[in-house]
Amino acid sequence: MELLTALRTTGAIRSFTDQAVTDELIAEILDVARFAPSGGNRQPWRVAVVRDRAIRAELARLMQPTWDEYIAARASGQAPFNPVDYAAPTEVTAAPNELLDTLVDAPAVLVIAADLSQVAAMDLELDRLPLVSGASVYPFCWSVLLAAHHHGLGGVLTTFLARSEPEATALLDLPADHAISAMVVLGVPVTRPIRLRRRPVHEFTTVDRFSGTPLASPTDQHDP
Ligand SMILES: Cc1cc2nc3c(=O)[nH]c(=O)nc-3n(C[C@H](O)[C@H](O)[C@H](O)COP(=O)(O)O)c2cc1C
Repeated sequence: MELLTALRTTGAIRSFTDQAVTDELIAEILDVARFAPSGGNRQPWRVAVVRDRAIRAELARLMQPTWDEYIAARASGQAPFNPVDYAAPTEVTAAPNELLDTLVDAPAVLVIAADLSQVAAMDLELDRLPLVSGASVYPFCWSVLLAAHHHGLGGVLTTFLARSEPEATALLDLPADHAISAMVVLGVPVTRPIRLRRRPVHEFTTVDRFSGTPLASPTDQHDP
């Protein structure tokens, strides 16, 4: 697949056909994704390909309360779970989630963790949420999605499981000092979005300073 097209069209896919995704194909995808960059080339990612239906059911059960809270928070006009001004909603009700409801039957489920002994947490001492160490594992996750797209698959990266890391650690035998980073679900898409909604360059890019003038750019180029 042409690189720029792939970058513009790899949207989140949450509904899959029944077509199986073999371990061989997953291995091929991971064999490409492993070329992702990481701090100091430490490659801290670990991947569990979860086939066991009971484990999948438990993963979905662990994530459901976080989804319910996400929906309630969004309904109250918040950016859910943001570390700046988030206030947990007082009323949370069960919300359906197709991905979680069908996780047991999903074509492929990957849980991706990071070995914290191998990441450089450059912003750990700052008086704010540390963010930088994730940059050593999320490019890998994105490369999984891009490589999957190349093979005709689609998928979605989710982070809800991180909120249940203690339970997930026991469930998945996650080694000590590893962080649950993402769950990536893959399969053949039922439909694939053609145009993704993204902000134009001038809305998030300025010259010299973040207070500077917007960068002149071909902002409204059409997606392929
Ligand atoms: C860090 C991160 C966390 C995400 N978490 C979830 C999630 O928990 N559940 C989900 O359905 N999608 C999740 N997504 C997918 C986003 O919702 C999706 O990338 C975004 O809405 C853009 O959607 P689009 O590609 O369809 O335009 C996540 C994506 C990222 C990068």
